[in-house]
Amino acid sequence: MRDLLEEKPVAKTSLAAHGLRFEIDGQTKVDIPLLRLDGEGPTMILGPNGAGKSLTLRLLHGLLTPHAGQISTPATRQAMVFQKPVLLRRSVLANMDYALRAAGVSRAKRRKLALDFLHEAGLAGKAKQAARTLSGGEQQRLALIRALATDPEILFLDEPTSSLDPSATQAIEAMVLRAASHGTRIVMVTHDLGQAKRLGRDIVFLHHGRVACHQPTDTFFATPDSAVAAGYLRGDLPI
Ligand SMILES: Nc1ncnc2c1ncn2[C@@H]1O[C@H](COP(=O)(O)OP(=O)(O)OP(=O)(O)O)[C@@H](O)[C@H]1O
Ligand SMILES: [Mg+2]
Repeated sequence: MRDLLEEKPVAKTSLAAHGLRFEIDGQTKVDIPLLRLDGEGPTMILGPNGAGKSLTLRLLHGLLTPHAGQISTPATRQAMVFQKPVLLRRSVLANMDYALRAAGVSRAKRRKLALDFLHEAGLAGKAKQAARTLSGGEQQRLALIRALATDPEILFLDEPTSSLDPSATQAIEAMVLRAASHGTRIVMVTHDLGQAKRLGRDIVFLHHGRVACHQPTDTFFATPDSAVAAGYLRGDLPI
């Protein structure tokens, strides 16, 4: 699909956070002295509800201004798929067209490209439907292809398959892996441990707004570097 946009070599786009701190009402919600995402990824972010995963993703994407610290990356094109998709109050096709236009794709190419993406996401029959009337899972799929259509160097995904059925989940995972193999740096939040194993090259485990451990995927699942991560993998209640 992305070959239709622009072929580019597999690249690794690094990203780092230094001294990152974010507060809400005087309470520290994210506190990350150093996080370097300089491998190829995909990087999977795990952690219990309320750990600060979504806030961290928004900080890394530059949507939130930290109270201290910086994010550094050479990437110029980034996209994010939110835990709750935000779609334009227009048709499904118009949502795709808007994203492709913003990505600089010529009018002549936009329609075919949009329909190809919709087909791949199983949404070809919904092109004329109002995007906000799609089911939750359909909205998640549209949000993902809309982000992919902008050909981002870094793509942040916040639980993109949380309300998808198994076959749609499989389709999304295949699209994410394809994007990764074409050089898009993936940073993805999930609660699905099987998915983290399938997709992740490294795992960042967050707890109480802090990075409890950051390890290669195999090592993380075999011997997690933090007691709280080990407990999470056993299914213990978060502390
Ligand atoms: N706008 C806000 N106002 C007040 N508290 C907030 C706000 N946004 C986030 N928080 C709090 O910050 C903490 C981290 O939230 P965040 O959404 O990052 O969690 P999460 O790890 O993504 O959880 P989940 O797995 O449930 O999505 C939570 O305790 C949450 O209640
Ligand atoms: Mg979240």
